[in-house]
Amino acid sequence: MKTNLIKINPDNFRDDELLAAAQTVKDGGLVVFPTETVYGIGADATSAECARKIYAAKGRPSDNPLIIHISSPADAEPYAVTTPLYYRLARHFMPGPLTVIMPKRDTVPDAVTGGLDSVAVRCPAHPIANALIRLSGVPIAAPSANISGRPSATCAAHAMHDFDGRVEFVIDGGESRFGMESTIVKITGEDSLILLRPGAVTYDALCCVCGDVSVSDTVTRMLKADERPLCPGMKYRHYAPEKPLALADGSAEDVLAFFRRKKAEGNCILICYDEQADALADAPGDCTVLRIGRSDDLETQGHRIFAALRQCDELNGDAVFANLPPLEGYGLALYNRLIRAAAHTVIRL
Ligand code: TXA
Ligand code: MG
Repeated sequence: MKTNLIKINPDNFRDDELLAAAQTVKDGGLVVFPTETVYGIGADATSAECARKIYAAKGRPSDNPLIIHISSPADAEPYAVTTPLYYRLARHFMPGPLTVIMPKRDTVPDAVTGGLDSVAVRCPAHPIANALIRLSGVPIAAPSANISGRPSATCAAHAMHDFDGRVEFVIDGGESRFGMESTIVKITGEDSLILLRPGAVTYDALCCVCGDVSVSDTVTRMLKADERPLCPGMKYRHYAPEKPLALADGSAEDVLAFFRRKKAEGNCILICYDEQADALADAPGDCTVLRIGRSDDLETQGHRIFAALRQCDELNGDAVFANLPPLEGYGLALYNRLIRAAAHTVIRL
């Protein structure tokens, strides 16, 4: 299959630039599109056949359900059993980087939800994503646009790397603003929810809208082989470069000393805060240092982390080391992704 790569300016485009891609969705094809979190590989969410195409293209286990993307919060009605809490969340965070899991209606094929009786709904803020959904006239089922297990794609080039020749369209709308996937919550009661995957909508932000927010313990730990997780995608080593990754946990001084030792030993890649990279510049030894932002700038780190993980595979060096992120605020989302990318390999200093 020939993949059409089209470039669209997210700040200034006309609907007709998206018509061919929207028609492809209507016709049951696959379209990679930008969102504010990461790129998605999308198809008609009302079709079981389309869901199977997505699983095949990603090499994803079909028990791992897909998020359905809508262009306005009320469009969830035909597909999910909504509650007032859903609309409260929608008022605060939609369109935006939040996915809400609710009981599903029969209009959503079992193939989309991996056989679960619930469905995940998200209304993206990215103007291209939003327009594509509206013009397609159907909700779009879309997992992140990466081969299963690999770091999510945060720009069109990464999506092309994984899907050139396997999808009809890749829409290049520039770099994803957040660079990490949406926050996922499951509604569990009138005023209660459980956080299943942290993202740019933080735990604290959710607490401002909902009285009872709990955090699934799978956010910070690896699942056992036979465990049935609430969020199936949290099961596997994930977001990972091909090289082994280990996370350094300790005081700022201890982690810097550790990175100095690794540089002296050579043959490795260090994913560093900017301050660490500056401090390592004159240290003896030889290794590649990737900067992901200042230690207190978690947004920039989130924006760059998947690109850094992908870069590792193209660079010299047999092992990759990074900081273990803090558990607070937006740090929880970075922690959740990196701990999986590292298959829970943490070096306690
Ligand atoms: O930011 C995002 O959410 C991106 C963009 C493209 O929207 N999408 C994304 O999709 O990250 P994906 O498929 O890579 O991750 C969705 C996660 C998976 O871990 C899946 O197991 C979980 O959501 N999920 C989907 N439906 C679910 C359901 N009904 N119950 C529990 N977990 C569900
Ligand atoms: Mg994914």
